[in-house]
Amino acid sequence: MTAYLITSVSVVGAAPTDLLIRDRVVAEVGPGLTAPDATVIDGTGLVALPGLVDLHTHLREPGREDAETVESGSRAAALGGYTAVCAMANTSPVADTAGVVEQVWRLGREANLVDVQPIGAVTVGLAGERLAELGAMADSAARVRIFSDDGHCVADPKLMRRALEYVKAFDGIIAQHAEEPRLTEGAQMHEGEVSTRLGLIGWPAVAEEAIIARDVLLAEHVGSRLHVCHVSTAGSVEVLRQAKARGVRVTAEVTPHHLLLTDVKAETYDPVFKVNPPLRTAADVTALRAALADGVIDVIATDHAPHAVEDKECEWAYARPGMLGLETALSIALDVLGPQWDLIAERMSRTPARIAGLTGHGVDPAPGVPANLTVIDPAARRTIEPAELASRSRNTPYARMTLPGRIVATFLRGEPTVLDGKATK
Ligand code: DOR
Repeated sequence: MTAYLITSVSVVGAAPTDLLIRDRVVAEVGPGLTAPDATVIDGTGLVALPGLVDLHTHLREPGREDAETVESGSRAAALGGYTAVCAMANTSPVADTAGVVEQVWRLGREANLVDVQPIGAVTVGLAGERLAELGAMADSAARVRIFSDDGHCVADPKLMRRALEYVKAFDGIIAQHAEEPRLTEGAQMHEGEVSTRLGLIGWPAVAEEAIIARDVLLAEHVGSRLHVCHVSTAGSVEVLRQAKARGVRVTAEVTPHHLLLTDVKAETYDPVFKVNPPLRTAADVTALRAALADGVIDVIATDHAPHAVEDKECEWAYARPGMLGLETALSIALDVLGPQWDLIAERMSRTPARIAGLTGHGVDPAPGVPANLTVIDPAARRTIEPAELASRSRNTPYARMTLPGRIVATFLRGEPTVLDGKATK
């Protein structure tokens, strides 16, 4: 295996030092390192972070390999600085059996660009009627610990309670897509002033907040772990703040797009801005940013949702909801948070790795730790060209925007998956 010596690099924002990667681990960190056999990377001005970990990725395989595959999504992830992603279950067939989660896990191992940790469905076929074989998925080679019907809400409170009870046996997590379906029938965008003006049916904030309020009570009652996907409203933040203050075992994520974009984008009628939950108001964005800073929201998760051209480039009402995220998440975080490297490492690597139980990930580069890390040039700026993305899909909401930061290199167990800003395979 090739050794790599990264010189004069800042590790999570600290003073520049040298960092030697050898035999799958960070071998040494300190000034003035030499390693004649190593490939040298000049790290001047660059920042090394623990490899990013995404709790919420749609890889679309099996079933919609035209939109994304485990391999193409893994490559997009590596280029975005990720070393591990959790793959959502809304594939076709749905990942609701040991067989399907093992298939996704095996495809991830074969691609070997990031660690792919499958998420299992909560209910059979995401239909919200019967619990899926949660135990068999947990016992499978994929060792599933997070279950989610994402894209759909587990709306039935009794089923949600049973799911929370079931996963308690192995300290599993139910990750909820919080959307009361009766309140969002026909919804096209956030319910508010803009939807009224455009004449589009609205998705009210309360549809999210009501489910989160119910689920934190259920999780508290059962003593189980709840994770809330893509939190998007100021009211949700307040429900979570109270639940956490009471000691409920709840964690929450926010997406990059909900930290940056607002419902005003719907005025373009460009379906690239259609997403579920929808883009909200500027006041929601402000509340989400504050919650991310103070820890009420634990992680940034991408909700990377690739869609084929025919599913996205059509009339707003017919377009599927969802946006690409893996290749731009770090840039959006940098834009929103500035160079707060410790906070970025916490929200995008350490905490998501801990929630998902991914050992070897989310650990700051230090002697002896697995070399799962990414190296960023924070001073670089790049203009997003959809055609240049590694994803098989093109539905980025940041097309032709110039964003800060560029991933220079990513290492998975000491092997570069990205070098000089390019995928190595
Ligand atoms: O916008 C979304 N797209 N939200 C979801 O919850 C699902 C996702 C998808 O699978 O496309």
